[in-house]
Amino acid sequence: MFNKKSIEDIAVAGKKVLVRCDFNVPLDDDLNITDETRIVGALPTINYLMEQGAKVILCSHLGKPKGEAIPKFSLAPVAKRLSEKLGKEVVFAADANVVGDNAKAAVAAMKDGDVVLLENTRYRAEETKNVETFSKELASLAEVFVNDAFGTAHRAHCSTVGVAEFIEGEAVCGYLIEKEIKFLGNAVNNPVRPLVAILGGSKVSSKISVINNLLEKVDTLIIGGGMAYTFMKAQGYEVGNSLLEEDYIDYANEMIAKAKEKGIKLLLPVDTVVAQEFSNDVPFKTVPNGGIEPGWEGLDIGEETIKLYSDALKDAKTVVWNGPMGVFEMSNFAKGTNAIAEILAEIDATTIIGGGDSVAAVNQAGLGDKMSHISTGGGASLEFLEGKVLPGIDILNNK
Ligand code: 3PG
Repeated sequence: MFNKKSIEDIAVAGKKVLVRCDFNVPLDDDLNITDETRIVGALPTINYLMEQGAKVILCSHLGKPKGEAIPKFSLAPVAKRLSEKLGKEVVFAADANVVGDNAKAAVAAMKDGDVVLLENTRYRAEETKNVETFSKELASLAEVFVNDAFGTAHRAHCSTVGVAEFIEGEAVCGYLIEKEIKFLGNAVNNPVRPLVAILGGSKVSSKISVINNLLEKVDTLIIGGGMAYTFMKAQGYEVGNSLLEEDYIDYANEMIAKAKEKGIKLLLPVDTVVAQEFSNDVPFKTVPNGGIEPGWEGLDIGEETIKLYSDALKDAKTVVWNGPMGVFEMSNFAKGTNAIAEILAEIDATTIIGGGDSVAAVNQAGLGDKMSHISTGGGASLEFLEGKVLPGIDILNNK
């Protein structure tokens, strides 16, 4: 049960409200925002607070400037895009020290319904170390703290955790965090069954806990992507030059045994698209398990595997997907990932996509609006699926 107070549980009219958003958006070389999903995700909370007559002070990190005010990590492009989206000027407080003269003056001049955006919180070295001094500075700007940065909720930083301890009034969550927890929480704790999880991406090592935890919850677990080759090797098949984590072969075997013992269907590839180089411009072919020759590497799941996975997904009622099935950025190896996206778009199920790569793949296939929920959290959604407590949510006031 999610029992954190939300913005609707408290009075905000006329108050200064500091909102932690996740505006960590991708930028191109000319500093244009190339994907505004996270900005759009933050709008319901910001709009609500503006309508309620709060003074809305926004903060976020962008990239990893590591305590230095590096211009390419400035939130200036976000202030501009946000102004367009809100139809109102967002005053950008361009302080290298984040809570500086510009921020203080901008906040002092705010009227009810106004919006100010602070500079990148990671311009301050204290931020990622959750040092009190910066947490107190942030808290001093406002009376109420709202965390709506789901994507950063797994980080215990000044702007996600420390500030909540020092804020004068309530510390509550926004609509985006509520929505993310509703979808991800229901999926793993109270799902309409069958519940199928699809895990892909390159490494078993980064998904150990999530595989282990999901085997306690799901009816079927589907594995694809680079991490599948360690499982193939565990099954006794040669994998050529494919990605392989030798140290995790035993773990893969344990997971295969665990699934069997629990009566959970663990689906692994039965065929693989292989090439001799990690390139879209070389010949490729599909081989069955055991057919990956020395010098060849697996770059996508094959047709038979697509059929197997599609069958398993047909009757699913809840699906959680994290990680692509192959190197979807290269057209020759995008078929498996696209096929999964297409079947998820068709089935009558709650479909939840988490993790930057699978979200990018779904959007690349133009199927984003066919999914029930696209998570704004990569690492955060993974940690949630691992069953971990997210510190940025844990710190907020209970109902
Ligand atoms: C993300 O993009 O996953 C979040 O914004 C967190 O960013 P971080 O991994 O740099 O902490």
